[in-house]
Amino acid sequence: MTSPLSIHDPLFFDDDDQSIGEVRNSQFTEDEILGRMECLGMIHAFVTPFVLNAAIKLRVFDIVAHAAIPPTAEEIMAKISSSSSFAATAPAATPQLGVLRRILRFLSQRKVLRHVSRDDGHVGYALTGISTWLVRSRARSDYLAPLLAMEMHARCQASWQRLHEVVLDGGDAFDRANGNYFWDTGRHDAQFNRVVNDAMIAFSTATMSLVLESYRGFAGIRRLVDVGGGMGHSVAKIVEAYPQIQGVNYDLSHVITTAPKIQGVEHVSGDMFESVPAADAIFIKSVLHNWDDEHCVKLLNNCYRALPQDGKLIIVDIIYKSSDTFAALEANLDMIMLAYTTGGQERTPNEWEELLISCGFGGITFHTNMPTKEGVIEAYKMVELRDDEQERISRL
Ligand SMILES: C[S@@+](CC[C@H](N)C(=O)[O-])C[C@H]1O[C@@H](n2cnc3c(N)ncnc32)[C@H](O)[C@@H]1O
Repeated sequence: MTSPLSIHDPLFFDDDDQSIGEVRNSQFTEDEILGRMECLGMIHAFVTPFVLNAAIKLRVFDIVAHAAIPPTAEEIMAKISSSSSFAATAPAATPQLGVLRRILRFLSQRKVLRHVSRDDGHVGYALTGISTWLVRSRARSDYLAPLLAMEMHARCQASWQRLHEVVLDGGDAFDRANGNYFWDTGRHDAQFNRVVNDAMIAFSTATMSLVLESYRGFAGIRRLVDVGGGMGHSVAKIVEAYPQIQGVNYDLSHVITTAPKIQGVEHVSGDMFESVPAADAIFIKSVLHNWDDEHCVKLLNNCYRALPQDGKLIIVDIIYKSSDTFAALEANLDMIMLAYTTGGQERTPNEWEELLISCGFGGITFHTNMPTKEGVIEAYKMVELRDDEQERISRL
């Protein structure tokens, strides 16, 4: 059978070449031929983060960002070779321009960099929307390279090798690989503590800007506790936008001891499964998805106790399948929770409602109109639930 096949995926083809051509006398069906290509693409998907990691270590994106005109491969190589960090780590090295060229070609194929024809006839490299997030800048803490550094860390990489064991025997892949739970590891491994805390800042900063642009529910709050707030980066942005708020950043002691001083924010250490500091509102971002329902109930009960009647709970987290736009990112995060945490999972709107209602929260609203994969879930410590919530709880 002869059939023209085509797949439109930058993994396989450049823009001007989008067909895999005629397949003649094949012993495979079209579906199998396409499937084989996609399967190879999935198997080798690990290549991209490793190449990005190499380019970040070589400061390729910083060099491109700070060049007056899009630099050529030779100009990028010259900058790499003359940088003090390169000289310190590899003083007797012989720079390999050919290898760098291949890395730049790969990054262009993945649309992480783009080619620019310069007036002098040379081809230079410029940033794209992807690589702007990989440029280190003092002004931008939403630099995503620290998130990649966490994923590349040997402890995280080792967890993935044990994922199947979780299916066979439960527990936690990270713990199986490292002999410790993810969030406890920083207590005895200062380097991992730093890597994780920096990754959380990287993961959260832009999300918080987008949340603050479209969600107005912080108005009127006087004291707000950010539960599992890490370095205090989220509550810092909230108090900056709402200076009347007295912010509290609450996290484990090994995290709090490394947190910077932030104006308008008090750092408090403790275990959220034991208690949560009192406040008129509680903020909790990217924490509940780290835990199974049992732990979430314990934590939400502590939040309930810490709030006054009608006190507000503001959750920023993944609301699974709330839109198709970020479906692949949500599915990835669900697997990441499986690999690094015990019972962590992404939850659908229904699952969020059931969890919150079972802990006495009501008046639940979802805010998902933001260009992020997270949404805001607002809930109140209620005396009386809405009729629909009352009905839900009677069915639980
Ligand atoms: C995924 S991070 C989220 C950090 C921050 N909220 C953000 O969105 O960037 C989860 C946070 O929960 C904290 N955490 C884990 N277990 C905790 C506990 N038992 N008590 C307080 N904080 C805890 C971790 O240290 C970490 O900072």
